[in-house]
Amino acid sequence: MNAYWEAVRPYVVDGVITRSDLDPEQWQTWRDGMRERYSWTITDPETVEFVREHLGEYAVDPFAGSGWWESLLISDMDILGYDIAPPQDRWSPVGRCDAVQAVSVTIPSTEALLLSWPPRYDDIGERTIRAYRGNRIVHIGADGSTSDGTDEMRKILAEEWTQVASHIPVRWYGVKDEINVYERA
Ligand SMILES: C[S@@+](CC[C@H](N)C(=O)[O-])C[C@H]1O[C@@H](n2cnc3c(N)ncnc32)[C@H](O)[C@@H]1O
Repeated sequence: MNAYWEAVRPYVVDGVITRSDLDPEQWQTWRDGMRERYSWTITDPETVEFVREHLGEYAVDPFAGSGWWESLLISDMDILGYDIAPPQDRWSPVGRCDAVQAVSVTIPSTEALLLSWPPRYDDIGERTIRAYRGNRIVHIGADGSTSDGTDEMRKILAEEWTQVASHIPVRWYGVKDEINVYERA
């Protein structure tokens, strides 16, 4: 059951969620509440399938937040979620741990890194990629002014990794969500 998708799907127009029945403040409260309760990127079924396919059998999710992604994927693969500050209400047993420690300690070389919306104004995204010893990254984030992670993190992905697949999920209005898959160059 994909409760997030069920909650937002009535409002999808051409791949974008919009709500003309809400004023700007109500819209922001609703959208931010959904992102906090579930995940920043909308988990429409095609997107979940894309992420599942590209993660493979084993993955670590070191910025797991509410553990929503883990809860959707756990029936088909081994995935471990961690977060420096997991919320009280969560969907899976997210361990409390810094992302660098999470990828340093737990990873066999076959384990993929699910890099989902690392913080924008913090170098933890780039440090996590540097510490990761595996060969595959599935990066869920956004392009442009609403993006996740630092510019340096994107530079590392562009220069030291090879992009092998990409997917555009159903998007929140005004946010250019995208999912890119990388293999070590
Ligand atoms: C923008 S949220 C994204 C959460 C989730 N991945 C999603 O897609 O909804 C960023 C998350 O990174 C976590 N975080 C920030 N710094 C961290 C660190 N050093 N190690 C692990 N998690 C961290 C925050 O607690 C927060 O849950």
